Formats: sequence, structure tokens, C-alpha cells
Amino acid sequence: MASERAVAEGRIDWTRRRMPVLAEALAELAERRVFDGLAIGFRLHLEPKTAVLVEGLLAAGARVVAMGNEGTTQFGTAEALADRGCVVLDRPGDGKAEVQTHLDRIAAAGSDLVLDNGAELIEACIRAGNPPRGATEETTSGAFRLREGLAGEVGFPVIVINDSPLKSIVENKHGVGESVVDAIVRTTNMSLHKKRVGVFGYGWCGRGIALYARRRGADVTVVDPDPVKALEAAMDGFDVADATGAAQGAEVVITATGRERVVSYELIRVMPDGAVLANAGHTGTEIDVDRLDGEAPGKLIAPSLHAHELPTGRTVFVLAGGRIVNLAAAGGIGNPIEAMDLGLTLQALSLAALVTPGIDLRPGPQPVPRLINDRVASAMLRSMGQIQV
Ligand SMILES: NC(=O)c1ccc[n+]([C@@H]2O[C@H](COP(=O)([O-])OP(=O)(O)OC[C@H]3O[C@@H](n4cnc5c(N)ncnc54)[C@H](O)[C@@H]3O)[C@@H](O)[C@H]2O)c1
Repeated sequence: MASERAVAEGRIDWTRRRMPVLAEALAELAERRVFDGLAIGFRLHLEPKTAVLVEGLLAAGARVVAMGNEGTTQFGTAEALADRGCVVLDRPGDGKAEVQTHLDRIAAAGSDLVLDNGAELIEACIRAGNPPRGATEETTSGAFRLREGLAGEVGFPVIVINDSPLKSIVENKHGVGESVVDAIVRTTNMSLHKKRVGVFGYGWCGRGIALYARRRGADVTVVDPDPVKALEAAMDGFDVADATGAAQGAEVVITATGRERVVSYELIRVMPDGAVLANAGHTGTEIDVDRLDGEAPGKLIAPSLHAHELPTGRTVFVLAGGRIVNLAAAGGIGNPIEAMDLGLTLQALSLAALVTPGIDLRPGPQPVPRLINDRVASAMLRSMGQIQV
């Protein structure tokens, strides 16, 4: 059987061939040696699609120190990147404490640029008194951290990739929707036809999850405290309920809010026997698995599938320990390549914009410049064989 490392090389090769938009952008950055001699602190799930981006940053002259999020690093890929000259900090078995050590290590060494996924690395750099020249932030959760917890403290430009309408449509809605529903079906080997599915959060990811669950035949109920989002869900043909109402009826509950403990232990207690819980959000805290584990310790019954027998006598099942299911569940391969082709091109061009003279960027979090959005949208349409009118 091929080694994990050989499989990783094959996957990286396969992935690279299917990322034409990123390839075109990276070729230009490499020709200009845009990142010559610059250190980039890189924090993104380490898997084949992000590996293609790291290769491109290295080819454009950068020194890259990389780490993933807890539980999402694919170690064959990490080894392949190390061989290409990237410093990879993650080790198999790393938990929360090791992740923090890696964050602190990158922050203490200092980076010219930071590419972040959750804004924890940006925060560590600020706390270490070692702010970068500029940064990009991938996620909704990171945007919250930058705009709420770190408000007023970010004295350098941070381009929030998540704010790009392109990323929202292609990656968060369609990419996440498709891959989260796939991950749940694959992990449970369960059909969604006529299953009652509760989707918590009707933002970009939630819209996609609700849509793809419906395409698989599920009856979807949406929960969102924002009345505008809830109305949109109703207009899109979904049932809308409050959290308790949805939890009482749901056979499958999926969270996609970017917020903590949205599915509390109290809510879990009212779910029907056999309910399956999965989280699509960036952090592993949207479902209160810590409290659930305290009250009803989980028993691993199949890969990425824990059973929790509640004191009420009912049993609920949690996928991937409540972590981001499309990446952290066994065999998780994340968003489709095409979605990440677009998202990672936004990353590459935004990082380049941070060190390109003449591009007007102010300190603090801000959206992807319009020019970059338009360029990437046109390139993706071409890659799909579509003509822009
Ligand atoms: N799985 C993946 O591959 C992947 C990819 C991109 C983003 N994400 C993550 O998914 C999460 C959601 O991202 P998004 O882009 O959809 O965000 P978003 O801001 O567009 O939507 C979040 C929605 O959740 C709602 N919400 C807030 N609190 C809630 C609660 N208590 N109950 C129900 N709904 C609530 C908000 O009103 C909002 O409509 C984030 O953590 C993001 O980082 C995951």
C-alpha cells in the first residue's frame, strides 16, 4: 500500500492540476519574486489545497513557517511541505497546548506577513509586541476576533478574505454546503432523505448547508436570531424555528454560526433519541461538547462518531468531537478544490497587495480590494468555460 507521504504527493499533484486560477496568479507572483526574503507566518489547515498555495509562496521568494488548526493537519502533506523548505510546526497528536506553543513560537520569531485562520496568530503577534507589516484573515470567526476582542489594537492592515463576496458565494455557501453535507453522510453512512435537519445559522455557510441538505432530500429547519436571515430562510422555502423548537424535532443538527455554545447542554437534552450533532463552524465550541462530555462521557463507536448516553436515557451522537466536520472527521478533505482555487487565489493576491507599493490599505481589518475580487471572478468564469458578458 502507498505510504501516507506518497498519497499526499499524489493528492497535491492532483489538486495543483485542478487549480488553474491560483496557478496563473502564483506564476505571476513568482516571476516578480513578490515575497523575496520575507517571512510569512502561515496558519491554515495543512492539506493538499493549502499546500499548493505554500509552494507558490515559496516560489515567490518567501520563507514560510506553517501550522494548522487543532486536528486538521494532514501529516503526509506536512512532510511534503517540509521537504519543499517550509518549516512546519505541527506534530501528530498535538492538542490545544501544543497549538498555543506553535502560535507563541511564530509570534516570538516575528513575521513580515501573517496569513491567519481565526486571528489567533495575529493576536499572538500583537501580544508578543511583534506585529507584522500586514496580514490576511481567512474566516468569519477571525473577523469577529479582530473587530470585537482586538478592536483598536490592530495597527497594520488585515485583509479579511471572508469579507469578499466571492468567497462568500463560492466557498462558504457552495463549497462548505456541499462538503459539510458530504462529510456527515460519509461519516454516518446515513441517507438524509426525509430526515429532519436543523441548521443553526443562516449566514453564508448555513445557507449552503441548508441548500445541499435539501438537495439530499432532507426536511430542513433553520434557526437564526437575526430576523432578516430567518426571513430569508423562510423565503428560500425552509421552515424557521427557535433553537428549542428546532432541537426538539431534529434528527440531525448542524451548527454554522461562528459563535460559542450555540447548542448548549440544555438544548441537547431536549433532542430526540438518536440525534446526530455536527459542527461546520471554525471553532470546536459551537456545540458544548465539553459540558456534554462532563455530563455524559462520549464513547467512540466508529471513526469520528461518539455516542453520549444522557442521564435522561436518550443517546445523542457527535461527529468529529464537535470540530469542523468537513475537515476534522476521518477522511475529511475539506471544501471542493474549485472553491479553494478561488479562495486561495484571493489569499495569494491579498498577501501580495500588502507588500505592493501604491495599493491603498489602511491599518485594521478591511475587505479584499475590489480590483482583486474582479480579477479573480473573471479568472474563475474563464476556468469554468464561461464567457463574461
Ligand atoms: N467548514 C468550513 O470549511 C468553513 C469554511 C468557511 C467558514 N467556516 C466557519 O463557519 C462559521 C459560519 O461562517 P459564515 O460565513 O456562515 O458566517 P456568517 O456571519 O455569514 O453567518 C453566521 C450566522 O449565524 C447566526 N447566528 C449567530 N448566533 C446564532 C445562534 N446562537 N443560533 C443560530 N444562529 C446564530 C448569525 O445571525 C449569522 O446569520 C464560522 O465559524 C466560519 O469560520 C467554516
